[in-house]
Amino acid sequence: MAILVAGGAGYIGSHMVADLVEKGYDVVVADNLSTGHRAAINSQARFYEGDIRNREFLDELFTKEKIDAVVHFAAFSLVAESMKKPLKYFDNNTGGMITLLEAMHDHGIKYIVFSSTAATYGIPEHMPIKESDPQVPINPYGESKLAMEKIMKWCDQAYGIKFVALRYFNVAGAKPDGSIGEDHHPETHLVPIILQVAAGKRDELSIFGDDYNTPDGTNVRDYVHPMDLADAHILAIKYLQAGNPSDAFNLGSSTGFSNKQMLEAAREVTGKPIPAKMAPRRPGDPDALVAASDKARSVLGWKPQYDDVHDIIASAWKWHSTHPQGYNDK
Ligand code: UFG
Repeated sequence: MAILVAGGAGYIGSHMVADLVEKGYDVVVADNLSTGHRAAINSQARFYEGDIRNREFLDELFTKEKIDAVVHFAAFSLVAESMKKPLKYFDNNTGGMITLLEAMHDHGIKYIVFSSTAATYGIPEHMPIKESDPQVPINPYGESKLAMEKIMKWCDQAYGIKFVALRYFNVAGAKPDGSIGEDHHPETHLVPIILQVAAGKRDELSIFGDDYNTPDGTNVRDYVHPMDLADAHILAIKYLQAGNPSDAFNLGSSTGFSNKQMLEAAREVTGKPIPAKMAPRRPGDPDALVAASDKARSVLGWKPQYDDVHDIIASAWKWHSTHPQGYNDK
């Protein structure tokens, strides 16, 4: 029996594929390569190029391959873009989930582990954020993912498809050997942008806002490494296969770092000056997002290996410094 990784050519999905292969799983990847990279897919996984909104594509895949569980990363994830193009997000993210669940139901596949997000919480009432806290998204991206969580709940009830929703906080870092990493076009995320400045590909970092209600005035985020996320997904598959009920878990480090602290840490790791300037706030950024992740630790037995942002940044730097053009560098 194989594990299907939908979105396995993407940033987090490709780390999942590598982790599964290294742990001896039989791995199948589905990806439409709209934002992912063929070169990111571990060569031991069987790759099917196609879109999860395409029912015929899924039927063919589920007929050829015996799939025990689906791990679902195939989604758009840019908050700012979702504010301008909400339907793009509801179509690909929420619509893709509907077609995927229909096909899973028809082919008798009972387990799904799904990438949810801290963005489903909106503006948190208190910190750290617990899984039981209200989910009131403030952007279409978070809304599209919250709808996916709710759809899975009803499919569990009606069809017995068991799910784990993993609500990621801010993902950063790369596989420690530097073979795969983050490569978005355009890049909007803090850590890769800081490292592009360090690598001389950008002139300076713009820090979006220093008048937030945080200790140094810049946004505070909780950073988690993609290999630690991959481990959590494998634990979630095992949790479902052991007959446990559907549930949601936060995945974060439980420690917040401000944008200024991240810049300082990157200067220390790279030894580069990394010029930066203050810039206006970016719409839709909550002051701080920090996870309570004790539930994943106690119920799934998750033990993240990367508990220091310096190590996270160092792993990302290994990727960026050896692949200045991302996957175009082969
Ligand atoms: N930032 C800058 N300058 C930049 C880029 C980002 O100051 O050039 C700041 C942002 O304003 C924010 C912080 O860096 O304060 C982190 O921004 P990212 O774009 O790296 O990440 P987000 O927090 O916006 O979003 C990420 C994922 C989402 C997810 C969210 C959950 O992209 O999918 O984390 O916390 F929902």
